[in-house]
Amino acid sequence: MGTTVAIRKPEDLRSHRWFGGDELRSFSHRARARQLGYLPEEHLGKPVIAILNTWSDINPCHMHLRERAEQVKRGVWQAGGFPLEFPVATLSETYQKPTPMLYRNLLAMETEEILRSYPVDGAVLMGGCDKTTPALLMGAASAGLPAIFVPAGPMLRGHWRDQTLGSGTDMWKYWDERRAGLIGDAELAELERGLARSPGHCMTMGTASTMTSAAEVLGLTLPGAASIPAVDSAHHRMAAASGARIVGQVWEDLTITKILDRSAYSDAITTVLALGGSTNALIHLIAMAGRSGIGLTPADFDALARRVPVLANIRPGGAWLMEDFYYAGGLPGLLSRLTDLLHVDRVTVSGQTLGETLAEARVHNDDVIRPRDNPLAAEGGIAVLRGNLAPSGAVIKHIAAAPELLAHTGPAVVFDDYRDLKKRINDPSLGITADSVLVLRGSGPLGGPGMPEYGMLPIPDHLLAQGVRDMVRISDARMSGTSYGACVLHVAPESHVGGPLALVRDGDLITLDVPGRVLRLEVGDAELDRRRAQWTAPPPRYERGYGALYSDHITQADEGCDFDFLARSGATPEPDPR
Ligand code: FES
Repeated sequence: MGTTVAIRKPEDLRSHRWFGGDELRSFSHRARARQLGYLPEEHLGKPVIAILNTWSDINPCHMHLRERAEQVKRGVWQAGGFPLEFPVATLSETYQKPTPMLYRNLLAMETEEILRSYPVDGAVLMGGCDKTTPALLMGAASAGLPAIFVPAGPMLRGHWRDQTLGSGTDMWKYWDERRAGLIGDAELAELERGLARSPGHCMTMGTASTMTSAAEVLGLTLPGAASIPAVDSAHHRMAAASGARIVGQVWEDLTITKILDRSAYSDAITTVLALGGSTNALIHLIAMAGRSGIGLTPADFDALARRVPVLANIRPGGAWLMEDFYYAGGLPGLLSRLTDLLHVDRVTVSGQTLGETLAEARVHNDDVIRPRDNPLAAEGGIAVLRGNLAPSGAVIKHIAAAPELLAHTGPAVVFDDYRDLKKRINDPSLGITADSVLVLRGSGPLGGPGMPEYGMLPIPDHLLAQGVRDMVRISDARMSGTSYGACVLHVAPESHVGGPLALVRDGDLITLDVPGRVLRLEVGDAELDRRRAQWTAPPPRYERGYGALYSDHITQADEGCDFDFLARSGATPEPDPR
């Protein structure tokens, strides 16, 4: 499919309603633009480009975006646009508690409403730390204007002595080594200095790299943008080029709505699977597709997972890091090996089709980006499970789990919530063995609240000391994309609303069968009905404020955890500026 380019006139611009015409309000708006210091010739008749910047002092993943916004503005000015920067909520995966997932929909709402309520013709969306990407894209999809995404870019590789360190992945690993007594305080202090060495988001194939790559294959970034390290000069150039390109998108009326169709989301799933990406992508892509009026389900992921190989050899599922991925050819290199599985005729923000953007793509290292005849895994790294313990589904990133645990039956050891887990995980009276199945409940969208990333439950100290590094763990929580292990996540419905996870008792046998896609509680229906009748719903977590709004409207994991009133279709009136 070729690209249709419709060139609009200045009076067609949305911002013209604010600034054009002989009206009291436009007179007032022009006067206030002068107050801002702009001459009429600097902005009148030009596309107004909102730069939504998630920079803040508390977010190390976005610490360079204040400077990078200036490069975006340079591109906008050079292309004949009028850039306006808007600071929007910053969702720092490291610091925001209980989890930024609680606030993903808040940033999505802010994004949508800022784009709708101001004189904006097009948007540059800047972010990358985990929830930021889906939040910005969900809001932009609902607003429906031309939009381009500027990914924050991964940080440089971590270093410790002669080892490279991956965000999250090696933090968990070495923390366990210390708990097992294999390294001491001095080594830990060195690791603390080497784990995060530059601006940028986590440089493993965690949620950040997964979602920025998804944004790229959706067609919402310039080609190759998602893989560029945050501090590489190519990142500066990409930011400026994105600023220039959004001006063209506005004149061409190339809206986000024209880019995001079902085939785009299908390609995003394919790419996430080939990357061995984060399980969080299921929730985010379902929510994003919902904003485009497209009903994705976990089953869509599982169907594709059975035929998409894992080609990216990146931690936690593989060996390398995002910096290596960039040098090896980055996402365009990987996509060039998947073209038969992608819809290459789709249009992207560049104005070219996806296939055209891949014409120059090359792979420079066959170990980092594997060829199709030597994949890291023959099937995609994520499996969707069902059974009487997860009627609406659960997920496992089996590529990052010990293979011998992927078909396992063991007795449950149950923790009611994270506090209970922390208090009792090392209690010898629990009799936990390597065959036990650790169960954590009270950690879902409502119970967590916000589905915190508790899903990689810690291995008890005594088992760590024995050399045990993986166990079957089941929860209604999420897991960091940088984590690993035989962790069954997103069990739906969650325990807080009476899902079967609420009915599990210590000693119950649980069967995990990843090849058969089964998660089963080996307890008869009559006994489960008896337990269900005895179950009482926990009290609401919030009685007021944003938490109460969240609790009243959040959907379950298999539905994307969007707010029901944001996910539904329906009219939203454009504001009348006059
Ligand atoms: Fe921001 Fe990992 S903490 S991406």
